[in-house]
Amino acid sequence: MKRTHNCNELRPEHIGQTAILCGWVHSRRDLGGVIFIDVRDREGRTQTVFDPSDLTSDVFAQASGLRGESVVRVTGRVRARPEGTRNPKIPTGEVEVLARELEVLNLAEPLPFQIDEPEAAARVNEEMRLQYRYLDLRRPEMARNLRLRHKVATAARVYFDEQGFLEVETPLLFKSTPEGAREFIVPNRREPGTFYALPQSPQQFKQILMVAGVERYYQLARCFRDEDQRADRQLEFTQIDVEMSFVERADIYAMVEGLLKRLWKVALDLEIATPFPQISFAEAMDRFGIDKPDTRFGMELCDLTAEFRGSTFKVFSGAVASGGVVKALNAKGLADATQGQIETMTGIAKSFGAKGLAFIKVEGGEWKSPIVKFFTDANKAALQRLLAIEEGDLILFAADSWLNACEILGKIRLYAADVLKSTGRLSLPPDRFDFLWVIDFPLLSFDKENNRWYSSHHPFTAPVPEDLPLLRTDPRKVRGQHYDCVVNGVELGGGSIRIHRPEIQKTVFEDILQIPSDVARARFGYLLEAFQYGAPPHGGIALGFDRLLAILCGTPSIRDVIAFPKTAKGTCLMTQSPAAVDPKQLRELRLELKVPPKE
Ligand code: AMO
Ligand code: AMP
Repeated sequence: MKRTHNCNELRPEHIGQTAILCGWVHSRRDLGGVIFIDVRDREGRTQTVFDPSDLTSDVFAQASGLRGESVVRVTGRVRARPEGTRNPKIPTGEVEVLARELEVLNLAEPLPFQIDEPEAAARVNEEMRLQYRYLDLRRPEMARNLRLRHKVATAARVYFDEQGFLEVETPLLFKSTPEGAREFIVPNRREPGTFYALPQSPQQFKQILMVAGVERYYQLARCFRDEDQRADRQLEFTQIDVEMSFVERADIYAMVEGLLKRLWKVALDLEIATPFPQISFAEAMDRFGIDKPDTRFGMELCDLTAEFRGSTFKVFSGAVASGGVVKALNAKGLADATQGQIETMTGIAKSFGAKGLAFIKVEGGEWKSPIVKFFTDANKAALQRLLAIEEGDLILFAADSWLNACEILGKIRLYAADVLKSTGRLSLPPDRFDFLWVIDFPLLSFDKENNRWYSSHHPFTAPVPEDLPLLRTDPRKVRGQHYDCVVNGVELGGGSIRIHRPEIQKTVFEDILQIPSDVARARFGYLLEAFQYGAPPHGGIALGFDRLLAILCGTPSIRDVIAFPKTAKGTCLMTQSPAAVDPKQLRELRLELKVPPKE
């Protein structure tokens, strides 16, 4: 009574054989007294036919009463489908199984939503899909995503194994190191008042593994960050986490490029070009207004500071006089932007503290804008040349500090691209992947509110060697040996060459980040100590595995590539977690609630 074939296996060469199929009732059609049931399993589906003239009446009655998604075992003879009823869309479409026996292994209740059509997902809201995730995962697209995830994970493991990496598991019960994102903490019953923290990444353990002599480490690592959730962020997620000893930045680039080349081949049968282009953080900001540029389309930012120095248009000349810049971008063909769209773009500028957003609409051979009257002929000629202005264009300006102007126009550039995409004026081929490395990030950023420096990436990143002398004198200018791997405007991963000398690490913690030395010792003492006992130079990277899969699957949300994701509010709708705990557990932990306990 074992299944003889899966539901994607039968072909004309099986005609005449007996087949036993197991699976779910994908669809059931009653055609003139003959019942057609498509049986589906993980591999595909096969049509079975229940013909009353060939069957005992109770088998036929059972088939008539089957509801969708019931689990069945069907035994029958494989036969060719009659001419005109073949289905070229599915691999088993030339044959069908003429049923002799039917065993209902589990009769399904009426479903909360239909899952037998590809369009079904679009009609069902995501909350419903998450509540009944086991049904949602039966849908072919979701099943395909899960399978691809497995395939990609396996290919990655094979690649790392070939390259001499060891997969090492690191603890999930770790300790609080409040430097990065907010953490999840876990109370310790054994010593009430002490806590574990779930790791944001295995960063410190992987560095210590280098001190331990592992040399090449990788892990498909679960990470936990209590951040606001978005389409590309989850509270718990997976990284392909890597660390290597005796390497420079270029070695990490080559290793990652080799990995991604392999994964794109395995998943999509695409050859991606390597090595990836490199762009400095400063250039990325200057040209694209973002540190993860999408280079699949143009509309680059251009600098007009020199043109408007001393202009009679005070908004521009004033910004320049106070050390700022004037930048612009040409939103190609967007002169027909609606009032609402212009307001959205102005809102972006205002969110950075700008007073407004100057723009020119090029319509009917004219530059339409109240600000054009302030422009000299030289200004106009420069604009024309630098922005290649044509009929139908929309030119947008930002006069602000360099960083603000870049960021404002960077956001507007992406917004304009979305508008152009949604109206079919910009189309990006689905098999185009623009990879690049963004490098030379500033090691430190200054936090005006708290009047202190903090690490742009994390405090373990090594400065670029030539910038080391600036660390104490001019920290702003120090570049970090940090790199981000970007594809199509998505930050896929980031990493760095690390500090491996304890005295430099101590300087960064204490003198630059101003972590008092006793606090630094309490938080990171073991790391500083480890570095005293023979730490090799090392570096690494972590790629967001969920983001990688979302890109490979062509889905906008990482929730579609995670079996059991959480909602934007951080809940699992299927299990209803998080939930209250038994008061006894709280007593054991010596925890008292300051909010009324939830039912
Ligand atoms: P970083 O914090 O840049 O670096 O994270 C690396 C990559 O992990 C992914 N990622 C996420 N994916 C889903 N949900 C989230 N909430 C989330 N947060 C991050 C991103 C990101 O690029 N330890 C360092 C790496 C290193 O230095 O080696 C780290 O974690 O794709
Ligand atoms: P105002 O002189 O303040 O009325 O501004 C004239 C035009 O410049 C308006 O269209 C504003 O939206 C625009 N504008 C104001 N501040 C900025 C800025 N920082 N960058 C670009 N345009 C601005």
